Amino acid sequence: MTDQIKNQIDRHLILFLEKRKKTYPFRSVHPILFKSIKDFCSRKGKRIRPLLMALSYKGYTKRKKISNTKLYTSCGCLELLHNFMLIHDDIIDNSDLRRGKPTLHKILAKTVKTKQHEKLGTDLAIVAGDIVYALSIDAFLAIDEDPNRKEKALRYLIQTAGFTAMGEFIDIIHGFEDIRKIKEKDVFLNYALKTARYTFECPLTIGAILANAPQKDIKKLSRLGALMGQAFQIQDDIIGIFSKEKKIGKSILSDLDEDKKTILVCHAYKILTKSKKQAFVKILKKSKKTHTDLINVQKIFIKSGSLAYSLIKIQKILKESQNILNGLSLKPAFKKQIWSALSILFKQSKQIADSYHIFFKNYNEA
Ligand code: IPE
Ligand code: IPE
Ligand code: MG
Ligand code: MG
Repeated sequence: MTDQIKNQIDRHLILFLEKRKKTYPFRSVHPILFKSIKDFCSRKGKRIRPLLMALSYKGYTKRKKISNTKLYTSCGCLELLHNFMLIHDDIIDNSDLRRGKPTLHKILAKTVKTKQHEKLGTDLAIVAGDIVYALSIDAFLAIDEDPNRKEKALRYLIQTAGFTAMGEFIDIIHGFEDIRKIKEKDVFLNYALKTARYTFECPLTIGAILANAPQKDIKKLSRLGALMGQAFQIQDDIIGIFSKEKKIGKSILSDLDEDKKTILVCHAYKILTKSKKQAFVKILKKSKKTHTDLINVQKIFIKSGSLAYSLIKIQKILKESQNILNGLSLKPAFKKQIWSALSILFKQSKQIADSYHIFFKNYNEA
């Protein structure tokens, strides 16, 4: 069922873009603009954000008849918001690879033959990202719902874009800040803003607002989203170190190169003895890390218990999230689908835990 919804979301996203090709002056600007945006948005991704919005809406709505075309086009707003964030994030993180293909700034660097191809690529990708953001708001408006609820949900969506950018702001500052200055609560604030709000809180909440869900459920959904976002970003940071580039389709050395202050890094720094701390910081301070550095950092995270600590944290969060979800008043079939969509996201945590002999419950079977 969720696969079917995901396919519909994909189909309507492309239909929406094709429709807007006629509204916006894409054709007169440059052929690469529409093509690169469409290709980027069509790449294979999990589509978790639009899926959660659709499930939340369907789970709460009392309408007998809904237009799936309008709903799925509207849910596409979250995939577009995500793509906009990713395009800018890849410039910030100096990443070459996204969803197994070159990042947008790498692609757009070839638009004109020039020695300044890097500047050309980043400048064009910043602007292309802005266009994708405009398309996101545009797509949201497709839903046919009560105007007051629509306005409330739209305001939440727009504020989400602001929250996410603020998370990215913190993330950039952390990359330049000394590790000694950063505490776990700072890392969690970063995760709440840069990931949780737009990946989980916003989709679940705006779906529920549009469907006229009870206020107390909207509050609980927000808490559920905040928790899931923490767990999801912890996993993203783990796979950024312990997975393979081919598997995740993103640059594997990027987090390390950008000196990202993840939960793994903060925990290891806190735990290590003085001499080991020094050796760890020496690697982190290198401007260009190698594959050997990555292996050494992996060893540090395993020996210090930071990997186990992070994986246990994910499991605690999943347990709490499941309890919150169980207490919601949405239709049971959709509750089940939401849990299935959420728990399957942590397949990789289970695989990594298994390969290092760390216990990890199979939440997807619960
Ligand atoms: C990646 O998001 C960025 C983060 C918030 C960690 P996803 O892992 O959802 O990326 P796709 O959409 O599946 O490629
Ligand atoms: C994810 O940033 C959050 C946003 C894109 C806003 P990251 O930099 O942690 O995610 P990946 O690892 O590049 O997907
Ligand atoms: Mg980033
Ligand atoms: Mg990144």
